[in-house]
Amino acid sequence: MTYSLNQVYPVIWHNDSVSLIDQTRLPNEYAFVEIHRSEDMARAIKTMIVRGAPAIGVAAAYGIYLGAREIETSNRNEFLQHLEQVAQLLRSTRPTAVNLFWAISRMMKTAYETLGTVAELKQTLLQTAQAINAEDLQTCQAIGDNGLAVLPKNPAKLTILTHCNAGALATAGYGTALGVVRSAWREGRLVRVFADETRPRLQGAKLTAWECVQEGIPVTVITDNMAAHCMKQGLIHAVVVGADRIAANGDTANKIGTYSVAIAAKAHNIPFFVAAPLSTVDFELSDGSQIPIEERNPTEIYQVGDTILTPEGVEFYNPAFDVTPADLITAIITENGAFAPGELAKSKVKQVV
Ligand code: MRU
Repeated sequence: MTYSLNQVYPVIWHNDSVSLIDQTRLPNEYAFVEIHRSEDMARAIKTMIVRGAPAIGVAAAYGIYLGAREIETSNRNEFLQHLEQVAQLLRSTRPTAVNLFWAISRMMKTAYETLGTVAELKQTLLQTAQAINAEDLQTCQAIGDNGLAVLPKNPAKLTILTHCNAGALATAGYGTALGVVRSAWREGRLVRVFADETRPRLQGAKLTAWECVQEGIPVTVITDNMAAHCMKQGLIHAVVVGADRIAANGDTANKIGTYSVAIAAKAHNIPFFVAAPLSTVDFELSDGSQIPIEERNPTEIYQVGDTILTPEGVEFYNPAFDVTPADLITAIITENGAFAPGELAKSKVKQVV
């Protein structure tokens, strides 16, 4: 994979290890963490040093290779048994984004289907992880360009609202929702991005805003409870969000708060787009009620730095994702074109609605 200097890549294979941008430190510090072992990769995914559905898929693919190279046996069956444990550890990190499971399955399929010595198998696993990485970057660029075809033509220059961070940081690079934003910006179709701050972890305020600033895209950060008001004032022409898992009927799991943005968009007749690679579509699930929703530590809600926000004696509920029903979604923008949610089955063939 060739890297260009002025772009952001959250997961880089470099010097026989993986460099991750530490997303827990942005926007104040742009720092990298070097990952040499599969256990460290699992921890980095769990603690959200690397986050965003496609990015954790790429990271987990490298995690499988890092685990493979630690296995010392030259016996193929023993090797595969140990590799299953590595896969299990990586699968246990986060439950909602299906790209994690998709990437691990592809790596394991490669392991089972590759003939030759264990040493050769390890080499093939590294090549497969690199291919997953490179393909995701190309996929995001295609999503960005396909998004241009379905964005409203009126007005000529749009203000787009997004939720959470579905940008370069959340993918191999370029982004899905922010990929559409980037393509629109380059084509002169965008005036400004409105970024929901995205409580409790603030991916919008910290990461989406940071990416926009890097690229010179004008960005306005609002708190989550301001989105409907901004829509009513006519400030928003389209909503574009990413996805963590899309069921076969188009129901879409994405960062908590996405569902309320979709309801508000419907109420104001504003198109609501989901931008995601086909690796995010889980055709095994008929609808969104079957998508597992991650619950995270309540400290994310009640603690900011050293400050405790709430009185003692209260309870917390901290689901990290919600499911937007398909009927609130205008189109799902993929690398093969944009599809009405009910038409996802056609997504394996390139087309644009
Ligand atoms: O908890 P996170 O930060 O991993 O959640 C990220 C999101 O919800 C993104 O919108 C989604 O993964 C799409 S990323 C292209």
